[in-house]
Amino acid sequence: MKLFIIYGAGCQGIALMRLLKKNPDSADVLCFVDSNPTKQGLIVEGLPVYPPGYLLSLDDGPPTVAVAVGGHYQEVRKLLERLGLEEDQHFYDATPRPLHYSDLEPDFAPLRDKVRRHTLVSEDRLAPLYQLSRQARKVNGDLAEIGVYRGGTALLMAEALQGSIQQLHLFDTFCGMPDSDPAIDMHRSGDFADTSVKAVSALLGEYKNVQLHPGLFPETLPEHWSYKVFSLVHVDVDIYASALACCQFFYPRLSPGGVMIFDDYGFPSCPGVRQAVDEYCGNHDLQVLYLQGGQALLQRS
Ligand SMILES: C[S@@+](CC[C@H](N)C(=O)[O-])C[C@H]1O[C@@H](n2cnc3c(N)ncnc32)[C@H](O)[C@@H]1O
Repeated sequence: MKLFIIYGAGCQGIALMRLLKKNPDSADVLCFVDSNPTKQGLIVEGLPVYPPGYLLSLDDGPPTVAVAVGGHYQEVRKLLERLGLEEDQHFYDATPRPLHYSDLEPDFAPLRDKVRRHTLVSEDRLAPLYQLSRQARKVNGDLAEIGVYRGGTALLMAEALQGSIQQLHLFDTFCGMPDSDPAIDMHRSGDFADTSVKAVSALLGEYKNVQLHPGLFPETLPEHWSYKVFSLVHVDVDIYASALACCQFFYPRLSPGGVMIFDDYGFPSCPGVRQAVDEYCGNHDLQVLYLQGGQALLQRS
């Protein structure tokens, strides 16, 4: 049986203690340790709470210290290192965390691994995009992505659409960022030029419902699209003029339940995207739904 001391006698520490005690044959908890003097000396859930110095008073050294202090882990790590303890050998961050999306949806992890080397988008943003692409199957209309670069997020969307008759329309210059506004944007003309129509066509060639629209958006919009509707639009364009053009064309064409998702809304490197979305939403009385990973959603009711 493994013995633990829990660092943190607050709600996170108590939750950890209850989790560990669920398997009494494999784990036991000796006591709590806490830096907060008002907790030291208390009995919490039947266990004493000691100050950090207690860890040095044990003859054989402390058992594994499971730290459950949420966002304060870095402070506690420094304190424990000052006491001569080593991370991973003597202590570790054991704060109970919410599940990852890949724990809930077994199809996601292999897909994430498949697209990872073709995309700039991190896992925490790929997961919402995948879920919205799956949900789009139940909403009327095609899907579109503006800002394809090497095709990673497009590949994720194409995979999520497998077997559907919905089309996935991909818009990009496929030869680098167009002109931007230096007073607003941080990206410059020619960024992301290391891609091509040929490379992206090769990556997505097996998906028969994918169509490429190379060139400068919105000039590349097909003429017969005035009455077209969309279930999901992924906007990953990084700059003001492109993001505004996406709002103006696609938002009015979303089906009920349809969504626009902006990859870069919360990124300091893409201030023009937030400015464009906020401006459009302000003018049309729309509410932005912000996701902590940096994305923002607009949903059509
Ligand atoms: C950050 S990259 C897209 C990343 C991609 N989604 C991924 O999975 O890595 C931004 C892309 O937006 C494209 N872009 C921005 N504004 C555009 C416009 N008005 N027309 C066409 N492409 C545009 C750029 O060419 C660039 O490839």
